[in-house]
Amino acid sequence: MKEIKAGLLGFGTIGTGVVKVFQNNCQLLEERLGARLVLHRIADLDISTDRGVSLAPEVLTTDAAEVLDNPEIDVVIELIGGYEPARTFVLRAIENGKHVVTANKALLALHGDEILAAAAAKGVDVMFEAAVGGGIPIISSIKENLCANNFRSVFGILNGTCNYILSRMTKEGADFSAVLKDAQDKGYAEADPTFDIEGVDTAHKIAILIGMCFGTRVKFEDIYTEGISAISALDIQFAKQFGYKIKLLAIGKKDNGQIEARVHPTMVPLNYPLADVDGAFNAVRLVGDFLGPAMLYGQGAGMEATASAVMGDVMAIARNIIAGIGSRTPAMAYRPEAIQQLAIKPMDEIISQYYLRFGTEDRPGVLAQISGILGRHDISIASMIQPERKEGGPVPIVIMTHEAKEANVRAALTEIDALEVALEPSRLIRIENELE
Ligand code: HSE
Repeated sequence: MKEIKAGLLGFGTIGTGVVKVFQNNCQLLEERLGARLVLHRIADLDISTDRGVSLAPEVLTTDAAEVLDNPEIDVVIELIGGYEPARTFVLRAIENGKHVVTANKALLALHGDEILAAAAAKGVDVMFEAAVGGGIPIISSIKENLCANNFRSVFGILNGTCNYILSRMTKEGADFSAVLKDAQDKGYAEADPTFDIEGVDTAHKIAILIGMCFGTRVKFEDIYTEGISAISALDIQFAKQFGYKIKLLAIGKKDNGQIEARVHPTMVPLNYPLADVDGAFNAVRLVGDFLGPAMLYGQGAGMEATASAVMGDVMAIARNIIAGIGSRTPAMAYRPEAIQQLAIKPMDEIISQYYLRFGTEDRPGVLAQISGILGRHDISIASMIQPERKEGGPVPIVIMTHEAKEANVRAALTEIDALEVALEPSRLIRIENELE
């Protein structure tokens, strides 16, 4: 029976999951492939820690060259993460004629063009299903099943760590840092957890999805990115009172030839399916001109679900090898020569509804000052809560607006924050009521 050999770079949480798939589902893989899939080498700087899987000693190496330059290896699985040495290793694997499977969204968001161009020149495949949405088959859905659609929008809850934290803060009123520690223990968080909580990981992922959905190049640094570290229990409580949940939402929209590309905490109506995506689950909601709206939902992080996506790619490549074909489907869903450079809509120009929270002195005329400033900036109030002050401290004034222009809201908040009665900086959370 034909053998197809894979080499793994990075024996961390997901790498361990990949080893488990090779071992537990070995027969299934063979039945579905018609060939034997072998994990030939695993390279990691640490090969002594017990990962709970048993391996023949000759499989493990601390030398990446034993994977990258090994003529027997057909497919390199890159699970190191981060920019370097992952970039150098992936380019070397491609140069050596190997197909690559990676879960590295940071690498793709920043160096995707270079890597995919090198792969095209060599005629090898680079696949990255695990880079976005953990186990959810979103990349292959965009490339294959949904490729007859013009997409209008793509929305995602794309970071398991943030969603887990926000869900537990919402359900239990749990403390941010304690919940972050739990997410880290469960293996959801990035090596640097600020990538999760400050929205960087989500921005990496939406950069990939926007590129694939709209056939454009989005520079990661052009994506407006705000994380969840400033979300307080108070905002979560008020959101609930108004009928919303707070989610870290990635938003991609195509509007008059311009692209909206942003990541920020967003209030989503409680009766929308995205509001029910809790814990480490992720979801992607797409609207296509023929498809209409569709939502893909599944585990967005964690050893098993992510390993499932990695292995789906390994199997796809193995099937291509058996069939003697490669690079059948463009990696970014569009042929490289058809990819455009669409303009990103400046953040100041976006139109949204807003949740605004002010902490002010409790005295006559405060509300009139605030509403006067909002009115002068063409911002119309939809509803308002001002709970009675309990003991001392600022009194919260919460305002939900009708649709307004971001630049106007920013200008109004600057004026309000400068008022003598403003005791703390105002808070702004965007609301997404029209999931187009
Ligand atoms: N740190 C990521 C998350 C892992 O929390 O979703 C999956 O990319």
